Amino acid sequence: METVLSIKGLTKNFGRLCAVNKLNLEVKRGQVFGMLGPNGSGKTTTLGMLMGVTNPTSGEFSWFGETPTHHLRKKIGAVLEHPIFYPYLSGQKNLELNALVKQCDARNIPNVLDLVELTDRRNDKYKTYSLGMKQRLAIASALLNDPTVLILDEPTNGLDPMGIAEIRELIKKIAANGKTIILASHLLDEVQKVCTHFAVLKRGNLIHTGPVNEVGQGEERVEVNAEVENLNEVLRGFSGTATVQRENGFYEVTLRENFHGKDLNRFLFDQGITASHLVTRKKSLEKHFLEILADGK
Ligand SMILES: Nc1ncnc2c1ncn2[C@@H]1O[C@H](COP(=O)(O)OP(=O)(O)OP(=O)(O)O)[C@@H](O)[C@H]1O
Ligand SMILES: [Mg+2]
Repeated sequence: METVLSIKGLTKNFGRLCAVNKLNLEVKRGQVFGMLGPNGSGKTTTLGMLMGVTNPTSGEFSWFGETPTHHLRKKIGAVLEHPIFYPYLSGQKNLELNALVKQCDARNIPNVLDLVELTDRRNDKYKTYSLGMKQRLAIASALLNDPTVLILDEPTNGLDPMGIAEIRELIKKIAANGKTIILASHLLDEVQKVCTHFAVLKRGNLIHTGPVNEVGQGEERVEVNAEVENLNEVLRGFSGTATVQRENGFYEVTLRENFHGKDLNRFLFDQGITASHLVTRKKSLEKHFLEILADGK
């Protein structure tokens, strides 16, 4: 699959504060890539560097295999900070002005308005729009020049549940139309709902990257008990066992990857042991990330 973005050792220091620390990432065409992290973890700083508005301290990145240039950035649409729209002008007029500034074809306006479902409201003044509509107009503006990649920083921040759902649907729709999307979020739930791949940042450090569908997975932990003297040794003798711990009244076995509770059960059975208690408890990445996100920074 084609690499859209490749980041190598990207670092940003603000004085003594390291906001982004030697970040390495790859984003492939067609991915909806989530940058997940608590407040202050370096998401916006990273997106700022990718968009050329923040200078990296060190490291590099390439878009479509090329060093970033002004020309290349035209293939990237972004909604970073709150975009500037004129409150007394209509959505339509605002997009016309943006098209002029971006030197792109105003004939795209009906398409993008349609995509973000603002066609009906296009002639209303911007200041009369709900927050969700404002955000949708910002996305429309970012799509005006039909970029290959769309970058969104916390696209659902501050929206009500309805507005959040609309934006998430819109992101999925844009992705289904073939665009690569990179979005920052501090919500695991959001990343799980809209992203295909993601990276987790904590204090500027990359601590995980992978497909979203792995999040619910993780090594299995199995609680076991059986009426056997040397159960501890027996459990340690299983090839799928990573660790064994004595918990209150039973043993907790952490299994190696690709081993499951039923494999352990069969092993015990083959040893002539019938488990009196065998419960699989998954420690998903989900729990791990939720802890990081709750931890702050
Ligand atoms: N211009 C700046 N000058 C000094 N420090 C900065 C600047 N911009 C960001 N930082 C610091 O860099 C760190 C990362 O900030 P950043 O805004 O990238 O985090 P974030 O993950 O986007 O957070 P949030 O979820 O709150 O948007 C923070 O500690 C922040 O205070
Ligand atoms: Mg931010």
